[in-house]
Amino acid sequence: MGEFVRLEVEGGVGTIRLDRPPMNALNRQVQGELQETALEATGRADVRAVVIYGGEKVFAAGADIKEMVDADYAAMVESAGPLQAAFEALARIPKPVVAAVTGYALGGGCELALTADFRVCGDNAKLGQPEILLGIIPGAGGTQRLARLVGPARAKDLVFSGRFVDAQEALRIGLVDRVVAPDDVYTAAREMAGRYVEGPAMALRAAKAAIDGGLDGDLASGLRLETALFTSLFATEDRTIGMTSFVQNGPGKAAFVGR
Ligand code: CAA
Repeated sequence: MGEFVRLEVEGGVGTIRLDRPPMNALNRQVQGELQETALEATGRADVRAVVIYGGEKVFAAGADIKEMVDADYAAMVESAGPLQAAFEALARIPKPVVAAVTGYALGGGCELALTADFRVCGDNAKLGQPEILLGIIPGAGGTQRLARLVGPARAKDLVFSGRFVDAQEALRIGLVDRVVAPDDVYTAAREMAGRYVEGPAMALRAAKAAIDGGLDGDLASGLRLETALFTSLFATEDRTIGMTSFVQNGPGKAAFVGR
């Protein structure tokens, strides 16, 4: 367990809890702890789905500007790699991941939410990539994951202007998937993640790898990846359980074992 990031596991859902008041600014230590926690969530068999949560008030207001204020090019070349690696470790958690966004998710905070498969936010949330107002651009996936999620023109609007998006606009452009009352954000995110806890873990893992891996390349490579992953699932117990259950009892009644 880190000083600012911890993994809390309950009922098959692992919550990656970011806790660096007042704004959960993502300094180098936080980035390292996020990476360690992502690897822990990946490795633990009792974690079947994940929620990323910054607490009741704020998700995260971005990389720590005070830590970067005197950095030069060489220093940032050194630190940009670990930052990308931390977010890559989160994006590659081979389990369903939901970001529970309260308050601000800005800059690296918005990019942190973009590492998840789904985003739930409070109706008072504000999301954005305000790096341009600092004279820089997003450096933790914001030009890549954001454009893939909402399309290049909307991503350019947010990245060029640095403006904040409220919850309703975020929902409309697909930046978030569900808007709830601020007090319900964590519960709603847990509920969303909890749907997958009893699911066929290997198939969920393959589905995530196929979709994310496919988006990284061309259609033909993506289809080849899909075929390889699809056929590989015929080596799993859950495939046998799922199809036998369908034949004997009809759809949707299989009790999967996660293998
Ligand atoms: N880094 C370091 N400190 C931050 C911070 C950040 N990203 N965001 C807020 N803080 C600090 C403030 O400096 C302030 O500290 P003090 O109390 O010591 O003065 C404290 O948190 C509270 O912030 P505010 O007084 O500004 O609170 P507010 O409610 O008026 O505004 C806010 C909140 C809109 C989030 C505003 O703080 C803000 O705009 N923050 C910066 C957002 C930003 O630009 N993020 C991008 C960072 S760069 C990045 O993330 C690069 C990347 O892609 C990886």
